[in-house]
Amino acid sequence: MKIIVTKDNIEGGTKAFEIIKKGMEDGDKVLGLATGSSPIPLYDDMCDSDLDFSDMTSINLDEYYGLNPDNDQSYHYFMQKHLFDKKPFKHSYIPNGMAKDIDEEVDRYNDIIAANPIDIQILGIGRNGHIAFNEPGTPFGSLTHKVQLTESTIKANSRFFDNEDEVPRQAICMGIKSIMQSKKIVLLAFGESKQDAVKALVEGPVTEEVPASILQDHPDVTVICDEVAAAKL
Ligand code: GLP
Repeated sequence: MKIIVTKDNIEGGTKAFEIIKKGMEDGDKVLGLATGSSPIPLYDDMCDSDLDFSDMTSINLDEYYGLNPDNDQSYHYFMQKHLFDKKPFKHSYIPNGMAKDIDEEVDRYNDIIAANPIDIQILGIGRNGHIAFNEPGTPFGSLTHKVQLTESTIKANSRFFDNEDEVPRQAICMGIKSIMQSKKIVLLAFGESKQDAVKALVEGPVTEEVPASILQDHPDVTVICDEVAAAKL
């Protein structure tokens, strides 16, 4: 696991951007993308760059269940706003949070991931060590699945909603096994609220109680964090 400590999230975004740029020069075609505040500086750099993604595929990690793509809290909306409006990809896949049959949607998404092996997966990390919406206790062998969000995640994400009651209780999420099959992984973590999660990710035991800890077993992981998030290492 390679650790890059940056001054702030802006410099962190630039480091991640450099990895993507280099990957594309080397022929990478499929990017795994994440939502949340951590990847925003990276997406800003991608938007401001002259890189062309129109022959690339993107696969997002997750989507709230029950939110329409045009709801401004949906991850569809987030991706359009922060990246796809300016930089369209040839194909962009995000779980359908409005799917009537959730099991069919889960199968469809697993087929998409199987058909498009991910070259570089971008990840954030939750305060409790979750990756995507894979909460503590999620089996390391999991594929795409429907998840019940924990109280801690609902609380953390409620800052984006008018109140906590509006935060969806469920999501569709790429599993840990699929994330681990990505060729390269870049995890972004910034700020004080991520200190414990970063320590557990880098130094803690590999345990399903800290989903991100499995990344210690992946051959090509870069953790990019700012000085504050890295303070307990
Ligand atoms: C949500 C997302 C995760 C993200 C996490 C941290 O729970 N599903 O993919 O990593 O929030 O978000 P942030 O980067 O805003 O701290």
